[in-house]
Amino acid sequence: MLVYLNGDWIPAEEARVSVFDRGFTFGDGVYEVIPVYGHRPFRLNAHLQRLRQSMTAVGMSDKKLAVDWDTVTTRLADSLSSGDGTVYLQISRGAAPRQHGFPANAPMTVLAYARPAAIETVKGPLREATAILRDDIRWTRCDIKTTSLIANVLLVQEALQAGADEALLVRDGYVNEGAVSNVFIVRDGRLITAPPNHLILGGITRDVIIELAHAIGIPVIEIAPRRAELLEADEVLITSSGREVTAVTRVDGAPVGTGRPGPVFQRLHAAFQTFKEEVRTGARTT
Ligand SMILES: Cc1ncc(COP(=O)(O)O)c(C=O)c1O
Repeated sequence: MLVYLNGDWIPAEEARVSVFDRGFTFGDGVYEVIPVYGHRPFRLNAHLQRLRQSMTAVGMSDKKLAVDWDTVTTRLADSLSSGDGTVYLQISRGAAPRQHGFPANAPMTVLAYARPAAIETVKGPLREATAILRDDIRWTRCDIKTTSLIANVLLVQEALQAGADEALLVRDGYVNEGAVSNVFIVRDGRLITAPPNHLILGGITRDVIIELAHAIGIPVIEIAPRRAELLEADEVLITSSGREVTAVTRVDGAPVGTGRPGPVFQRLHAAFQTFKEEVRTGARTT
């Protein structure tokens, strides 16, 4: 497996980063995960725009980087043997003597690689998941896709230990998103999800699902649902680049609605699969 590191293409086993790299010591970096279908990066421009926004938000100038992300991502997408997988991009603030303030002259560290999709994802995404509810213990700049992910790591681990797949996060009584996904509830045929602000990561899959919902006549309300509304919802859905759109059928052990993936999920899932296949075959470019 070849990785891209600071301008070079090298075997992953030979790739080396300094022990003083701020990505390692502080989690001082940003990243993106871009799904690839049929060797075609999905919504590449939106992912690259979010990467630039993350960099700007943490005071990293992408003008100092001589990376052609389109070329790097395309080459990595081409390298996937099945054609399906993800491209991972990461930029850290570079290696420097340990002090919190930004180093004056450290070149940023740039890493990129591709990962093949798991067999089950190639066959079709997992359609069902279970979740737990937890306090959102993260900071209040959840809109930045940073590698500082310790809170998300702890929350996902709690979910796994509870036998669930995802932790849905509650702040001040509202469910804003999951530890690794955006969250929608369905009430009386309408989709309800938190608005894009500093309390959520503006998910690219979230955007696609909202577009598809509009296209097939499902109303969307961008107001964060209350915890109690989520527990009484007809359906709960999560979205992410890895899981596409997935029905949450149990929350804290209790069934959501009928306890089976519901009709709104079925319609959005079908629409997403069609959309994806159009991307895969090149019939659609975004
Ligand atoms: C906290 C969080 N919210 C939302 C998402 C979904 O974003 P996207 O659809 O762009 O993958 C992710 C993806 O990893 C995430 O980590």
